[in-house]
Amino acid sequence: MLKLRRQKNRSFNLRQYPISKVDLSSVAPCFSINEYGITANSAVSFIGGEGIVASLTDRETWVLAGLSKSAKKIFEFGTCSGKTTHVMALNTSEDAELFTLTIHPDEADKLFFDAKDDRRHREVAELEAKFIKFYYEGHPTEKKITQIFSDSKKFDETELTGKIDLIFIDGAHTKSYVENDTKKAFRMLSSQGVIVWHDYKPDAPDVFKYLNELSKTIELMHIKDTDLVLYRKHPV
Ligand SMILES: C[S@@+](CC[C@H](N)C(=O)[O-])C[C@H]1O[C@@H](n2cnc3c(N)ncnc32)[C@H](O)[C@@H]1O
Repeated sequence: MLKLRRQKNRSFNLRQYPISKVDLSSVAPCFSINEYGITANSAVSFIGGEGIVASLTDRETWVLAGLSKSAKKIFEFGTCSGKTTHVMALNTSEDAELFTLTIHPDEADKLFFDAKDDRRHREVAELEAKFIKFYYEGHPTEKKITQIFSDSKKFDETELTGKIDLIFIDGAHTKSYVENDTKKAFRMLSSQGVIVWHDYKPDAPDVFKYLNELSKTIELMHIKDTDLVLYRKHPV
């Protein structure tokens, strides 16, 4: 038994991307495949990432847009331009609510980093905190969106406990923050909820290591051809 476990751990550690890759078709029913390939259920309202700061790839945007179609309440850690917030909102029903949290530019130099947090991504977190006006402003999506300005470590998620169907974690990419945001996400997650993390890649080392460790305790999926990792409370 011990030998088997050691072998399993060794092969986990040797894989370049230890979290198992899954096809888009296992992410949500709207991405299912038929004899033609992807079905018409995968259609979304979409805007590509051309010229957008800290943008997701078009495939990643499609994934989040597809997941948004069945979500009544969405929470995003890290708004940046608000383009992804807008696209997610575009794909929800009229009665959906989106909460998006970001650091105000005036507070960007007051974050609570730990000594061990990745230095480069401390700087990135501050540099990307430059928006006080957002992409969705002036669009009909705006009425679904609650913009929260807060350091995610100061944010109190109590009121949203158990209520959020889709949580997108894309705030500060340092260990202490991704850990903080993940813990809060698990508290907010609804019974059918999904959590998606961005930047699962060696170039974001704290996110990469944190998710690799987390995947030893819960089932995580790395969505093929993306830097997205997904957790689903219940299988589809
Ligand atoms: C990678 S960008 C988010 C991109 C956005 N989700 C999108 O898809 O367009 C990261 C954002 O998180 C914000 N941020 C960084 N550290 C934060 C913190 N501690 N609390 C809240 N927001 C933070 C940054 O200011 C930036 O706006």
